[in-house]
Amino acid sequence: MCGIVGYLGHRDAYPILIKGLKRLEYRGYDSAGVALINDNGDMNIYKAKGKVVDLENVCSDKNISGCVGIAHTRWATHGEPSAINAHPHYSESKNLAIIHNGIIENYAQIKKNLISKGVHFVSETDTEVLVQLIEYIQVHKKLDLLTSVQVALRQVIGAYAIALLDKRNPNQIIAARKASPLVIGIGDNEFFLGSDASPIIEYTDKVVYLDDENIAVMRLGEDLQVTNIDNVKLNPDVQTVDIDLGQIEKGGFPHFMLKEIFEQPECLRNCMRGRISKKGVVLSAITDHREQLANAKRFIIVACGTSWHAGLIGKQLLETFCRIPVEVEYASEFRYRNPVVGPDDVVIAISQSGETADTLAAIKLAKEKGAFIYGICNAIGSSIARATDTGTYIHVGPEIGVASTKAFTGQVTVLLLLSLALAKERQTISCEEYNKVVKYLLKVPEAMKEVLKVNKRVADLSRIFTYAHNFLYLGRGYSYPVALEGALKLKEISYIHAEGYPAAEMKHGPIALIDSDMPVVVIATHNEMYEKILSNIQEIKARKGKVIAIVTKDDEVISKIADEVIELPDTLECLEPLLATIPLQLLAYHVAVCKGKNVDQPRNLAKSVTVE
Ligand code: M6R
Repeated sequence: MCGIVGYLGHRDAYPILIKGLKRLEYRGYDSAGVALINDNGDMNIYKAKGKVVDLENVCSDKNISGCVGIAHTRWATHGEPSAINAHPHYSESKNLAIIHNGIIENYAQIKKNLISKGVHFVSETDTEVLVQLIEYIQVHKKLDLLTSVQVALRQVIGAYAIALLDKRNPNQIIAARKASPLVIGIGDNEFFLGSDASPIIEYTDKVVYLDDENIAVMRLGEDLQVTNIDNVKLNPDVQTVDIDLGQIEKGGFPHFMLKEIFEQPECLRNCMRGRISKKGVVLSAITDHREQLANAKRFIIVACGTSWHAGLIGKQLLETFCRIPVEVEYASEFRYRNPVVGPDDVVIAISQSGETADTLAAIKLAKEKGAFIYGICNAIGSSIARATDTGTYIHVGPEIGVASTKAFTGQVTVLLLLSLALAKERQTISCEEYNKVVKYLLKVPEAMKEVLKVNKRVADLSRIFTYAHNFLYLGRGYSYPVALEGALKLKEISYIHAEGYPAAEMKHGPIALIDSDMPVVVIATHNEMYEKILSNIQEIKARKGKVIAIVTKDDEVISKIADEVIELPDTLECLEPLLATIPLQLLAYHVAVCKGKNVDQPRNLAKSVTVE
């Protein structure tokens, strides 16, 4: 989704802004632009449809000097992707320039009103409406810029993270946010701005995460000032971020997605670090909120996409070990259907980015109804992490590839830790079972390394299947959400239609699709459902379908029937998703690479879905 970068200081702004935009490319976008104020006091805006490199081409023969600037990558919502609709947008006088993430929901009404007063618009965007409104208020009410921004934002319905330049006041950037993330980096007499910390961490580790309806004024030679939209002065909470630059670069891999798949053993170690001791699993969230969590009558998991799939595994874990009923809801549905939720419920919100608009709205609704909210996020300091009552970070490091991989296994791991810790509190697990799961969990990072050795084999077999227009993924029990996740990965990056099903449902419909062209990925590991899955495979083969089976090492039965077999090390059934997911991630990756697709930034998708 859209990206924001800003700089105010003593260095050339342009290279910092362009580098920052490149760091935000992973969010997905369709156009880019930059505004710079040079030493003569001129404000120049350059924009391009396409990638940041297209913007660089546009700028190659332009005046790009200046130590203050703002830049943006746009993911179209109002108006097609084009240079005109790209940000920054001028106000009518061209004194102001704005960049904006989010959606101004009442833009049409405001625009109509401004047009009736003689204001002219050049783009179709809701963003231009905001900058025109700010200027209109500034001119007609004769207010300073900060007050005009406050007045304008009080009229606005929707979500925004904005940054504003005023060419008459070149040593200043004004920024504000509501329901769309914005981070300010504080350097030595310089300020940086980003929609996340990735464009900033190269220069400073001191950051301020703005809260909803906060407005920041950055002025050269002065401390950061923060107010709310009612002009109440606030103390900015300066935090130190701990992100290593290497974590957001490719480290020798051709794509972020492959790097992130290979990082999973280390990610899992980081996720478990300090949380498993001789005494067992310790999560500070449970220590601090034992009462609410251990006595919950019901858990409701809200999430979207891959995080929702992790939630389906969480349901099985929590119900198995804690004997508490669990519902798993798409956050987008939950928020609009007046769900039955109350103070006895604990809502678990799962989100890698911590910025997903639907999940945030679901949290807000559940809070209003009195539920206690537990968050599982990756992005530190993200909106969801701050909106929840407590939570556990997955600590897998920044995920750049749009297709989520290491976040999924991190989420499943936290859900497992949560289930074990709560089960112990509630005495719903035997000591023996508890110790066995912990023992095998600690072995998962090594087992993952073993699984990653199939990379070459999966790359080879992926070439065979690039012809396919459809794929079916089947699994049972813990493997059913893994099948859904495998299908989602393939769809997202190879654009091949894929569906995940509980294997037993095959005969209730999907079996009609099977013919000699249909690849069927079956998770057929050695567990209680083995015989049943074996029958499913035989049914597929009887119809000449192509079976790619994920089996437990040394399986001698399925390896004779299936067309392709990928082996996993033996582990406990509840831990199988952590291993079985990896070959499916690799399959999606290699099929997409063979088809020449943009693996890290697939079409139409955004990393962080901050709008509905
Ligand atoms: O950041 P979140 O975990 O809240 O994101 C939810 C989904 O948008 C996300 O998982 C999406 O489905 C990914 N592209 C999956 O690869």
